[in-house]
Amino acid sequence: VLVLGAPLEALQGGGRSLCGPPMSLEADCLKTRRWGLFLTGAVGGTLAALYAVATPFLMPALRRVCLPFVPATPRQVENVMKVLRGRNGPLVDIGSGDGRVVIAAAKEGFPAVGYELNPWLVWYSRYRAWREGVRDSARFYISDLWKVTFSQYTNVVIFGVPQMMPQLEKKLELELKEGARVIACRFPFPHWIPDHVTGEGIDTVWAYDVSTFRG
Ligand SMILES: C[S@@+](CC[C@H](N)C(=O)[O-])C[C@H]1O[C@@H](n2cnc3c(N)ncnc32)[C@H](O)[C@@H]1O
Repeated sequence: VLVLGAPLEALQGGGRSLCGPPMSLEADCLKTRRWGLFLTGAVGGTLAALYAVATPFLMPALRRVCLPFVPATPRQVENVMKVLRGRNGPLVDIGSGDGRVVIAAAKEGFPAVGYELNPWLVWYSRYRAWREGVRDSARFYISDLWKVTFSQYTNVVIFGVPQMMPQLEKKLELELKEGARVIACRFPFPHWIPDHVTGEGIDTVWAYDVSTFRG
């Protein structure tokens, strides 16, 4: 409400205003602007962090073969260790997730390696390996499984999805050396005949020896 006859400078904020001294108005304005900036930064930062964490978990859904992160059950890990009993040599878990299979194998004395596309899972796996005292024998790499050669491994573990198994079967048949054993969790390979099957339901694991599938 303008007061008729009020001095112009008071109305413009140059002197005293109708609601208080102009300095306090300016300070209020500055405070509000700072809060605005802080809130914009906080919301923007939170959204950026959420994006950075969630994207690697959502990316598999956009790939030709969707292989999401589903951790092995404790019984599944036990079954993998059972079919590895009495064996030695380097082990690889293809798509190592949070590292549980690699860490369990390292605890059994295998030099174990995990290849995983999701960097958060790889960092978490390294942390877990360090915490569980197997940092030197459990190694993790951020890699695409289709770009890695598995010829150096004598024990190969895969918890995949049915769509990828025919292609992986061909890849491993070409790359693995005599004496190697492949262990498939939850989903078997389509053409190979297993040498051992352990567990039941979602915890089933199939073990295939190279000598068998090469005939
Ligand atoms: C079903 S989970 C199995 C996790 C782990 N092996 C286990 O048994 O607990 C499959 C994992 O493969 C990873 N993955 C998906 N596509 C991949 C790719 N192209 N290369 C490497 N890892 C991949 C996923 O991020 C996920 O962690």
